[in-house]
Amino acid sequence: MAASGRLEGRVAFITGIARGQGRAHAVRLASEGAKIVGIDLAGPIPGVPYDSPTPADLAETVSLVEATGSEILAEIADVRDLDGMTAVVERGVERFGGLDVIVANAGVCIPSTWDQTAPEVFQNHIDTNVTGVWNTVIAGARHLVERGGGSVILISSYAGKKVQPFMVGYTASKHAVVGMTRAFAAELGKHSIRVNSIHPGNVNTPMGSGDMIGALTRAAETNPVLMNMGTPFLPRFSAEADEISSTVLFLASDDASFITAEHISVDGGAQYF
Ligand SMILES: NC(=O)c1ccc[n+]([C@@H]2O[C@H](COP(=O)([O-])OP(=O)(O)OC[C@H]3O[C@@H](n4cnc5c(N)ncnc54)[C@H](O)[C@@H]3O)[C@@H](O)[C@H]2O)c1
Repeated sequence: MAASGRLEGRVAFITGIARGQGRAHAVRLASEGAKIVGIDLAGPIPGVPYDSPTPADLAETVSLVEATGSEILAEIADVRDLDGMTAVVERGVERFGGLDVIVANAGVCIPSTWDQTAPEVFQNHIDTNVTGVWNTVIAGARHLVERGGGSVILISSYAGKKVQPFMVGYTASKHAVVGMTRAFAAELGKHSIRVNSIHPGNVNTPMGSGDMIGALTRAAETNPVLMNMGTPFLPRFSAEADEISSTVLFLASDDASFITAEHISVDGGAQYF
């Protein structure tokens, strides 16, 4: 899609940029003129059935963003570490002069049946997908206040509107993101800061790599009636990451200037199946 400079002069802070959707969002916002401040764990993620990201993945994102002609400050950091993330944001603001957009994208997903889920696995979802999202907003929002406005975009899931079977922890964490969206939108509105969530269905990213399909299949065998929940109405199962980026760009831009506290699905209709 041809870029038209819709984010010229703006700065975006994005979590989970090493690969998948976070990388796509960084490249798309940069191609529209935004400077990017981004973080990723870029290392082993304990407990997930899919492949973990690497520093080489993060370096690839940096190259792709720079190829757009924009600039990026990318660092290894953990969304569970508020101080560490705040320090990265401060360095980004120092370098690029402010902050206008926050995209809380980093997340983990560990499928297992309700009775096979270890307490640490449930906690892991809460720590990264809930506290990590709160940390992301807290690390950046006061800079949006200083700018006199901005856009905060929280990445939830189809699981945050309906149910992702065999993922009690993931489903709970993504519903919590809906509550955070509304609560932050209510308080930040007076600063002209909009806060919205995006709810992708299945997306073609490395989250589906390794043993992810195997783990889902084994869980589904315990309760096959749930297997087809979340099937899209459209004739393909997955979105590409860039299709989610289109909605991130829309919400980040002035095209969404009167939209806040909203929850936008990009799931081919899966939430209603
Ligand atoms: N892939 C899907 O089907 C799908 C569907 C709906 C929602 N989502 C959500 O979209 C977001 C992006 O997922 P994706 O598909 O690109 O997955 P992904 O695993 O390819 O990318 C997620 C990125 O987040 C990073 N991350 C994880 N924990 C982190 C932490 N503690 N600190 C910093 N970075 C961390 C990872 O290193 C990784 O690079 C997630 O919030 C996910 O829950 C994904």
